[in-house]
Amino acid sequence: MECEDIETFTGTAGEHARNPHNHGPLSDFNGHARITGPCGDTMDFWVDVRNGIVERISFVTDGCGSSMACGSMASCLAKGKPCEEAAALQQQEILAALGCLPGEFEHCALLAANTLKAACTDYLERRISLNDDKRKE
Ligand code: FES
Repeated sequence: MECEDIETFTGTAGEHARNPHNHGPLSDFNGHARITGPCGDTMDFWVDVRNGIVERISFVTDGCGSSMACGSMASCLAKGKPCEEAAALQQQEILAALGCLPGEFEHCALLAANTLKAACTDYLERRISLNDDKRKE
């Protein structure tokens, strides 16, 4: 999608768009997902879950400032939370935490929430299949 001018973003949304937190792939992780939204932008999330807690998390996106802000905020909200809780993070929670994002970019928060959920689900499924393998031994 065509990039908006992130200089017009204010407050928390502007800070996260210009200086995203937890940006860049994790080399060591146990959950990952990549989703392309209806706008054509793609987001990746990686999680490193230890003892059920999202200890490390990161994201990348080829989308513009709003998707950067949403990925960044989603990662901040999920970090340190139980994996199931991080997976349940909703679009509206990301938008509320960002404070002000132009309405036409609210779907970016949905892409972030969906990708985060898929990465957490990937971790949970890996854990289940690992336990299945152990039971078969
Ligand atoms: Fe594509 Fe927001 S413009 S995710």
